[in-house]
Amino acid sequence: MTDGVGAAATEPEIDPRRFRTVLGQFCTGITIITAFDQDAAPIGFACQSFAALSLEPPLVLFCPTKVSRSWAAIEASGRFAVNVLAEEQQATCARFGSREPDKFAGIDWHTSELELPLLDGALATIQCTVDRVVDGGDHHIVIGRVRSLSESTESGRPLLFYRGQYTAIEPEKTTPAPWRADLDHFLTTTTLDTWL
Ligand SMILES: Cc1cc2nc3c(=O)[nH]c(=O)nc-3n(C[C@H](O)[C@H](O)[C@H](O)COP(=O)(O)O)c2cc1C
Repeated sequence: MTDGVGAAATEPEIDPRRFRTVLGQFCTGITIITAFDQDAAPIGFACQSFAALSLEPPLVLFCPTKVSRSWAAIEASGRFAVNVLAEEQQATCARFGSREPDKFAGIDWHTSELELPLLDGALATIQCTVDRVVDGGDHHIVIGRVRSLSESTESGRPLLFYRGQYTAIEPEKTTPAPWRADLDHFLTTTTLDTWL
């Protein structure tokens, strides 16, 4: 290419390390996505790529890497649970983020009414059936139809992931955001007074 036009039309090179570093500025909560495999053994993996997607119908999404063994089991069973981790569940996150053969060893959990494994101590659980799977490069985008919701009765705080490290909120630094009509469709609206 000599005139620069062709060069501009080619895909820019994105360095993977820089991709990770820059995207690490986006702070997220952490979930453990769980299910039962075909032998009725509980499986799961740590997942930060989780989001609310739609209110009507109620949909959420998460993105497993295409080589995830957990995803293979979830795909076979057609259902999964999202466990939103609390601040004190760092060790649980590390375990489910590893390739340990039995990630549930030493973990307190129970089976739900919808026959899904739920982690005790999670801030919230969202039970879903797999609605659709969309290609996402080296990941899948899994869209789940929400079947059941529950949240902890204790006012725990979330475990966060930021710049490759665990962190947590500082409650005294949180500020109520004013409700605005144009944000009425924002998915994490909880009351008419706040959209947080
Ligand atoms: C904080 C944290 C967030 C993660 N988020 C994701 C994610 O969004 N998608 C993914 O595929 N893996 C994610 N992982 C990595 C998986 O948890 C890890 O690769 C796990 O070993 C996969 O296990 P599996 O092969 O049993 O599915 C995350 C790990 C950690 C510690």
